[in-house]
Amino acid sequence: MKILIVDDETNIRELMHRYLHLDGIDSDCAENGLSAQRMLKDELYDACLIDLKMPGMDGNSLIEWIRSEGFRMPIIMVSAHGEISDAVSALKQGAQDYIVKPFDPEELVIRLKKLVEAQNLRNLVENETRNTTVDDKQIFVGESPSIRKIKDLVARIAETNSTVLITGESGTGKEVVARDIHNSSLVKGGPFVAINIGGVPENLLESELFGYEKGAFTGAANRKTGMFELASGGTLFLDEIGDMPLSLQVKILRVLQDKRITRLGGTDPMPINARIIAATNKDVEQMVREGKFREDLFYRLNVVRISIPPLRERREDIPLLAAGILRRFNRQMGHRVEGFTSEALSMLTSHDFFGNVRELENILERAVIFSDTPEIQVEDLDLRGSVSMRTHDKEKEETKIDLSDGKSLKDVEIDTIIRALHRWEGNRTRAAQELGISRRTLINKIAENNLNL
Ligand SMILES: Nc1ncnc2c1ncn2[C@@H]1O[C@H](COP(=O)(O)OP(=O)(O)OP(=O)(O)O)[C@@H](O)[C@H]1O
Ligand SMILES: [Mg+2]
Repeated sequence: MKILIVDDETNIRELMHRYLHLDGIDSDCAENGLSAQRMLKDELYDACLIDLKMPGMDGNSLIEWIRSEGFRMPIIMVSAHGEISDAVSALKQGAQDYIVKPFDPEELVIRLKKLVEAQNLRNLVENETRNTTVDDKQIFVGESPSIRKIKDLVARIAETNSTVLITGESGTGKEVVARDIHNSSLVKGGPFVAINIGGVPENLLESELFGYEKGAFTGAANRKTGMFELASGGTLFLDEIGDMPLSLQVKILRVLQDKRITRLGGTDPMPINARIIAATNKDVEQMVREGKFREDLFYRLNVVRISIPPLRERREDIPLLAAGILRRFNRQMGHRVEGFTSEALSMLTSHDFFGNVRELENILERAVIFSDTPEIQVEDLDLRGSVSMRTHDKEKEETKIDLSDGKSLKDVEIDTIIRALHRWEGNRTRAAQELGISRRTLINKIAENNLNL
């Protein structure tokens, strides 16, 4: 931590320098605004202590310059008795705090450390969320009865701090809803911190969530702030909660109950005040029955439940979603596609979208790129990625007839696999999904039966 002290009085500069040094804090001194400007351009400072009254450039003008240059470090304004009203104007100018001379050195150090820590935390959170907050402030689109109900619910829980569990198939908009809740909540000014439980290696998950103290284990060279702490004053979004290992589920439960966390290797529990939203595309109730998800944690999370229906059960939302997505792609790609032909639109609304809104997005992204007409045509829409429910059912019918024909089960199995692969143009992942088996099982079966595909 390095501090810049700006004061025209030599003895005050030296006094502050010495106090800080006693606490192990490094500092440089400048005797006026001009040399402060020079030093700020040469060196990274974690905070500035600036005297209000100085000959030449005064403290307020220096703060104004610092902010206009884009420096974001915290600033403490130092003023004498009787200058309090000036100090207040300094706060407006962009200082975070002020102290009055003569000051208590201990208090100065405490305030300084607090401000620097808060700033470090803010920087971290901004890094985490940079990619998602700037352009993607997405609104939750939909006018179907089920989506209206969800919007009502979101409005009703806005002023509460209740834990929310969002469920729904992949691509239905669980994260969109989570952000929506955050943006309409009392903590909307705070950070929205998202962690994808399934995306973090299991052995790192605990330290990601709880953070650790320096030296907590080999390799812990510095203190790490955990997600619970980062989300303080805001929302913590625990995405894919169904992937949480049982051993960690206990620990999460404890945090939710005690509203305190202890960093790994730490001793003092710290209060946490983040709102918790969890989401999963798994059937949690089923997982609870199977003993894969703790019942007590489930009840803790399931205080408010939002289940988002699949897109094929609310087809009336498809045109609205498609229009919104089109606008976004036009903007992002600099295209000017005006809309859809009525045939194209009716084709979209009758499609089943097993990948839900995400699939719709993928199809439209491709359409916008390849379309060379003002409106998207049927030919621009590549819906092969998914079969409609109707053909799906028809295939099943045929399979049944095959069985009654006296074919062996094995034949039927091989037949079914070939058909699925054929429908998905050899895409094994998709075919396996449709058949309800893992990709690996499918590949094994292909090898087992010598299916030359
Ligand atoms: N109602 C909606 N309005 C606008 N955009 C939506 C809506 N629902 C989904 N989307 C968009 O669809 C995509 C998928 O949404 P999201 O990531 O929230 O889904 P998810 O349910 O979290 O999926 P997964 O389970 O795969 O993580 C995103 O790009 C999102 O912007
Ligand atoms: Mg998601």
